[in-house]
Amino acid sequence: MAVREANPVPRSREGDGWFRLGRRWRRTVLVIHIVSAGAWIGIDVMVAILVLTGRFGTTDEVRGLAYQALATFVVWPMLVSGLLCLVTGLALGLGTRWGLLRYWWVLVKLTLNLVLCTLILVALQPGMDEVGDYGRDLANGASEPAVISDLVFPPAVSLTALTLATVLAVAKPWGRIRRVRRTRR
Ligand code: HEM
Repeated sequence: MAVREANPVPRSREGDGWFRLGRRWRRTVLVIHIVSAGAWIGIDVMVAILVLTGRFGTTDEVRGLAYQALATFVVWPMLVSGLLCLVTGLALGLGTRWGLLRYWWVLVKLTLNLVLCTLILVALQPGMDEVGDYGRDLANGASEPAVISDLVFPPAVSLTALTLATVLAVAKPWGRIRRVRRTRR
Protein backbone atom coordinates (compact mmCIF):
# COMPACT_ATOMS: atom_id res chain seq x y z
CA MET A 1 0.00 0.00 0.00
CA ALA A 2 1.35 3.41 -0.95
CA VAL A 3 1.71 5.74 2.02
CA ARG A 4 1.43 9.43 1.25
CA GLU A 5 3.69 11.80 3.18
CA ALA A 6 1.83 14.54 5.07
CA ASN A 7 4.41 17.16 4.11
CA PRO A 8 6.48 15.96 1.19
CA VAL A 9 9.71 17.82 0.46
CA PRO A 10 9.35 19.47 -2.94
CA ARG A 11 11.23 17.48 -5.61
CA SER A 12 12.97 20.55 -6.96
CA ARG A 13 14.20 23.11 -4.47
CA GLU A 14 14.32 25.80 -7.15
CA GLY A 15 11.75 28.54 -7.29
CA ASP A 16 9.06 28.32 -9.89
CA GLY A 17 8.40 32.01 -10.37
CA TRP A 18 10.44 34.94 -11.70
CA PHE A 19 13.08 34.52 -9.02
CA ARG A 20 15.13 31.36 -8.63
CA LEU A 21 17.96 30.48 -6.31
CA GLY A 22 20.48 28.16 -7.88
CA ARG A 23 22.05 25.43 -5.76
CA ARG A 24 25.05 27.48 -4.66
CA TRP A 25 23.04 30.62 -3.93
CA ARG A 26 20.43 28.64 -2.00
CA ARG A 27 23.16 27.16 0.20
CA THR A 28 24.82 30.54 0.72
CA VAL A 29 21.55 32.27 1.62
CA LEU A 30 20.57 29.36 3.89
CA VAL A 31 23.89 29.65 5.77
CA ILE A 32 23.34 33.42 6.26
CA HIS A 33 19.74 32.68 7.33
CA ILE A 34 20.80 30.14 9.95
CA VAL A 35 23.70 32.29 11.21
CA SER A 36 21.45 35.37 11.55
CA ALA A 37 18.79 33.31 13.37
CA GLY A 38 21.52 31.95 15.68
CA ALA A 39 22.89 35.46 16.31
CA TRP A 40 19.37 36.69 17.10
CA ILE A 41 18.84 33.89 19.63
CA GLY A 42 22.29 34.58 21.15
CA ILE A 43 21.51 38.29 21.57
CA ASP A 44 18.21 37.34 23.21
CA VAL A 45 20.04 35.12 25.69
CA MET A 46 22.38 38.06 26.42
CA VAL A 47 19.34 40.31 27.00
CA ALA A 48 17.90 37.76 29.44
CA ILE A 49 21.20 37.61 31.35
CA LEU A 50 21.47 41.43 31.53
CA VAL A 51 17.84 41.80 32.64
CA LEU A 52 18.29 39.17 35.38
CA THR A 53 21.58 40.80 36.48
CA GLY A 54 19.84 44.20 36.52
CA ARG A 55 17.12 42.74 38.70
CA PHE A 56 19.01 40.44 41.05
CA GLY A 57 22.64 41.68 40.81
CA THR A 58 24.66 41.66 44.04
CA THR A 59 25.27 45.43 44.23
CA ASP A 60 23.56 48.53 42.84
CA GLU A 61 26.68 49.23 40.79
CA VAL A 62 26.54 45.84 39.07
CA ARG A 63 22.79 46.21 38.50
CA GLY A 64 23.25 49.72 37.10
CA LEU A 65 26.01 48.59 34.73
CA ALA A 66 23.81 45.73 33.46
CA TYR A 67 21.00 48.18 32.63
CA GLN A 68 23.42 50.56 30.95
CA ALA A 69 24.85 47.74 28.82
CA LEU A 70 21.30 46.71 27.92
CA ALA A 71 20.42 50.24 26.82
CA THR A 72 23.64 50.75 24.87
CA PHE A 73 24.49 47.53 23.04
CA VAL A 74 21.44 45.40 22.50
CA VAL A 75 18.61 46.80 20.39
CA TRP A 76 20.32 47.58 17.08
CA PRO A 77 22.30 44.32 16.76
CA MET A 78 19.07 42.49 17.60
CA LEU A 79 17.12 44.39 14.96
CA VAL A 80 19.85 43.88 12.33
CA SER A 81 19.96 40.11 12.92
CA GLY A 82 16.13 39.96 12.88
CA LEU A 83 15.95 41.86 9.59
CA LEU A 84 18.75 39.76 8.06
CA CYS A 85 16.87 36.62 9.08
CA LEU A 86 13.70 38.09 7.53
CA VAL A 87 15.35 39.10 4.23
CA THR A 88 17.16 35.76 3.79
CA GLY A 89 13.97 33.91 4.80
CA LEU A 90 12.03 35.85 2.15
CA ALA A 91 14.70 35.00 -0.46
CA LEU A 92 14.59 31.32 0.53
CA GLY A 93 10.81 31.27 0.35
CA LEU A 94 10.53 33.12 -2.95
CA GLY A 95 13.55 31.49 -4.55
CA THR A 96 12.69 27.88 -3.76
CA ARG A 97 9.65 25.67 -4.12
CA TRP A 98 8.73 26.33 -0.48
CA GLY A 99 7.12 29.64 -1.43
CA LEU A 100 5.94 32.24 1.07
CA LEU A 101 2.25 31.39 1.21
CA ARG A 102 2.40 27.73 0.22
CA TYR A 103 3.31 25.95 3.46
CA TRP A 104 1.97 26.69 6.93
CA TRP A 105 5.40 26.42 8.57
CA VAL A 106 6.83 29.15 6.31
CA LEU A 107 3.82 31.44 6.82
CA VAL A 108 3.94 31.05 10.62
CA LYS A 109 7.69 31.76 10.63
CA LEU A 110 7.15 34.85 8.47
CA THR A 111 4.46 36.09 10.86
CA LEU A 112 6.64 35.48 13.93
CA ASN A 113 9.59 37.28 12.33
CA LEU A 114 7.49 40.32 11.35
CA VAL A 115 5.82 40.54 14.79
CA LEU A 116 9.15 40.27 16.64
CA CYS A 117 10.88 42.92 14.48
CA THR A 118 7.91 45.25 14.95
CA LEU A 119 7.99 44.70 18.73
CA ILE A 120 11.72 45.53 18.84
CA LEU A 121 10.98 48.85 17.11
CA VAL A 122 7.75 49.90 18.84
CA ALA A 123 8.00 48.28 22.30
CA LEU A 124 11.70 47.78 23.13
CA GLN A 125 13.67 50.57 21.45
CA PRO A 126 11.63 53.58 22.69
CA GLY A 127 12.16 52.60 26.37
CA MET A 128 15.93 52.18 26.17
CA ASP A 129 16.85 55.78 27.11
CA GLU A 130 14.82 55.36 30.28
CA VAL A 131 16.59 52.07 31.05
CA GLY A 132 20.00 53.74 30.52
CA ASP A 133 19.05 56.62 32.87
CA TYR A 134 17.84 54.14 35.46
CA GLY A 135 21.13 52.22 35.19
CA ARG A 136 23.18 55.42 35.60
CA ASP A 137 21.12 56.46 38.65
CA LEU A 138 21.59 53.06 40.24
CA ALA A 139 25.34 52.94 39.56
CA ASN A 140 25.76 56.48 40.94
CA GLY A 141 23.88 55.57 44.10
CA ALA A 142 20.92 57.92 43.54
CA SER A 143 18.50 57.48 46.44
CA GLU A 144 15.43 57.22 44.22
CA PRO A 145 16.28 55.99 40.75
CA ALA A 146 13.70 56.43 38.00
CA VAL A 147 11.13 53.66 37.67
CA ILE A 148 11.32 51.30 34.69
CA SER A 149 8.77 48.83 33.42
CA ASP A 150 9.23 45.07 33.61
CA LEU A 151 11.94 43.95 31.21
CA VAL A 152 11.59 40.21 31.73
CA PHE A 153 8.88 39.82 29.07
CA PRO A 154 10.78 40.86 25.89
CA PRO A 155 13.50 38.17 26.08
CA ALA A 156 11.00 35.55 27.34
CA VAL A 157 8.55 36.18 24.47
CA SER A 158 11.28 36.48 21.85
CA LEU A 159 13.17 33.33 22.93
CA THR A 160 9.93 31.32 22.95
CA ALA A 161 8.98 32.55 19.46
CA LEU A 162 12.47 31.97 18.02
CA THR A 163 12.61 28.46 19.49
CA LEU A 164 9.22 27.75 17.90
CA ALA A 165 10.47 29.13 14.56
CA THR A 166 13.55 26.87 14.74
CA VAL A 167 11.40 23.82 15.52
CA LEU A 168 9.12 24.70 12.57
CA ALA A 169 12.12 25.11 10.25
CA VAL A 170 13.45 21.67 11.15
CA ALA A 171 10.16 19.71 11.45
CA LYS A 172 8.28 21.51 8.65
CA PRO A 173 4.88 20.39 10.00
CA TRP A 174 1.26 20.90 8.90
CA GLY A 175 1.67 20.53 5.14
CA ARG A 176 0.38 22.85 2.42
CA ILE A 177 -1.99 25.76 2.75
CA ARG A 178 -5.11 24.80 0.85
CA ARG A 179 -6.47 27.39 -1.49
CA VAL A 180 -10.23 27.88 -1.36
CA ARG A 181 -11.45 26.99 -4.84
CA ARG A 182 -14.22 29.11 -6.23
CA THR A 183 -16.82 26.97 -7.95
CA ARG A 184 -18.33 28.44 -11.03
CA ARG A 185 -22.05 28.40 -11.24
C1 HEM B 1 11.72 33.75 12.91
C2 HEM B 1 12.98 33.49 12.78
C3 HEM B 1 13.49 32.33 11.95
C4 HEM B 1 14.25 31.30 12.40
C5 HEM B 1 14.75 31.09 13.83
C6 HEM B 1 14.51 30.43 11.27
C7 HEM B 1 15.28 29.30 11.30
C8 HEM B 1 15.54 28.49 10.22
C9 HEM B 1 16.41 27.34 10.22
C10 HEM B 1 17.21 26.85 11.45
C11 HEM B 1 16.39 26.79 8.98
C12 HEM B 1 17.17 25.57 8.49
C13 HEM B 1 16.27 24.34 8.51
C14 HEM B 1 16.84 23.16 7.75
O1 HEM B 1 17.64 23.35 6.82
O2 HEM B 1 16.47 22.03 8.14
C15 HEM B 1 15.48 27.58 8.18
C16 HEM B 1 15.16 27.31 6.87
C17 HEM B 1 14.22 27.99 6.14
N1 HEM B 1 13.60 29.15 6.52
FE1 HEM B 1 13.78 30.11 8.30
N2 HEM B 1 13.88 30.97 10.16
C18 HEM B 1 13.25 32.13 10.53
C19 HEM B 1 12.54 32.97 9.71
C20 HEM B 1 12.14 32.67 8.42
C21 HEM B 1 11.27 33.47 7.58
C22 HEM B 1 10.69 34.84 7.98
C23 HEM B 1 11.08 32.79 6.41
C24 HEM B 1 10.27 33.15 5.20
C25 HEM B 1 9.60 34.23 5.01
C26 HEM B 1 11.86 31.58 6.48
C27 HEM B 1 11.93 30.64 5.48
C28 HEM B 1 12.73 29.53 5.50
C29 HEM B 1 12.80 28.55 4.42
C30 HEM B 1 12.00 28.57 3.12
C31 HEM B 1 13.73 27.58 4.82
C32 HEM B 1 14.13 26.31 4.06
C33 HEM B 1 15.24 26.62 3.09
C34 HEM B 1 15.62 25.40 2.27
O3 HEM B 1 15.78 24.31 2.84
O4 HEM B 1 15.77 25.59 1.08
N3 HEM B 1 12.49 31.54 7.71
N4 HEM B 1 15.00 28.62 8.95
